[in-house]
Amino acid sequence: MKKLWGGRFTKSAEEWVDEFGASISFDKELVMEDLEGSLAHVTMLGKCGILSKEDVEQIKSGLKHLQKKAQAGELQFSVKMEDIHLNLESMLIDEIGPVGGKLHTGRSRNDQVATDMHLYLRNQTSDVIDLIQELQQALLTQAEQHVETLIPGYTHLQRAQPISFAHHLMAYFWMLERDKQRFKESFKRINVSPLGAGALAGTTFPIDREYSAELLGFSGIYENSLDAVCDRDFILEFLSNSSMLMMHLSRLSEEIILWSSQEFQFIELDDAFSTGSSIMPQKKNPDMAELIRGKTGRVYGNLMGLLTVLKGLPLAYNKDMQEDKEGMFDTVKTVIGSLRIFAGMISTMKVRSKNMEKATRSDFSNATELADYLASKGMPFREAHEVVGKLVLHCIQKECYLADLTLADFKAASSLFEEDIYTALNPYEAVKRRNSAGGTGFEQVKKAIDKAKELMNGKVHV
Ligand code: ARG
Repeated sequence: MKKLWGGRFTKSAEEWVDEFGASISFDKELVMEDLEGSLAHVTMLGKCGILSKEDVEQIKSGLKHLQKKAQAGELQFSVKMEDIHLNLESMLIDEIGPVGGKLHTGRSRNDQVATDMHLYLRNQTSDVIDLIQELQQALLTQAEQHVETLIPGYTHLQRAQPISFAHHLMAYFWMLERDKQRFKESFKRINVSPLGAGALAGTTFPIDREYSAELLGFSGIYENSLDAVCDRDFILEFLSNSSMLMMHLSRLSEEIILWSSQEFQFIELDDAFSTGSSIMPQKKNPDMAELIRGKTGRVYGNLMGLLTVLKGLPLAYNKDMQEDKEGMFDTVKTVIGSLRIFAGMISTMKVRSKNMEKATRSDFSNATELADYLASKGMPFREAHEVVGKLVLHCIQKECYLADLTLADFKAASSLFEEDIYTALNPYEAVKRRNSAGGTGFEQVKKAIDKAKELMNGKVHV
């Protein structure tokens, strides 16, 4: 098969060499974007009088026909034609004859591929934003039902202080909010047109870059033709935002895995998001959460991979840059899949409130309450800490909890203790009292939920 760039060559590469250099096996993902970019390019060529009306009409109808075929899955790509751009161009020529060869006037594959990827990431970024929003909604709905459900709060994975389960879930809501903001913020750098930058230096044809940008819905054009074709920072930004998002999902995965274990028994995942074991009949494994925790690694890997590909490249285009695509496609697929699974997993999970609350009563996570109690009666906090530390030690030796001590036990530790100490020790009261801004007090949690709801309805902007 004759190469579209074969003019200056006297012999062709061997098939296996061609295969090694080809990207069609993966860049066929860009088929719709490539056709969209070509339609805008040829329309611009017509408007600027670079191609005749008749030529433009023929090329456009050929491209539209290819669009239909692509949608129907009828295009047969060939590795001989290297990549998506050359495949489509040769199909166009097959379809409408030599006039199809005029499409590439004033354009290079270098600005073409960059344009395709900007279009692709623009679409995918909006999908990611919508899916983050869906997961936020799932968290919010669960949170609303569990404002007064108590759960031990942990530091170092040791019980620290009791908190509202809604407060715990809402922590993830706000992390996701920042993730969403980051994707939104990146949009303005994705939505810029490299088209018309040519191979690297622009073109001699009197093209109108602003016009083709407008046709493609871009909000502006790259100012510098070299920059337009050689940088992939817009992809890196997507990979980096995705890495952070996955890191958050991975942490929540870890908690879900812990919470659904026999040791915790805080939640039960829906059967639809769990799997069994081929040998142990009793097993119900949180596979989806584990898989998302695992897939986080590949998303980080894709970011590191592309950063490394780009770090030593001289301007402008280098074939190394063909390596920008697989990691990007893989990340899009991973992030979108993970978000979908997560929204379903969160909205269907059963919360075992009784077990959570029971846990808050069978530990020392109310020790801070005692120290605060003494401090509020005038004892310096440091001293109060010491007194309570001794009481905890006393309980450990007696194999009981603080609430099991008698008033006489308390009084022996400090005369400041009164009967109301038992109210202070109650975890429900302990949570309720943490009414500082952003704290776990029920009033604060309700406020945060209201704010989050308004945010979801687009009423406030954080
Ligand atoms: N398949 C190529 C890539 O993805 C398209 C650009 C090729 N440009 C070139 N000058 N060889 O990077």
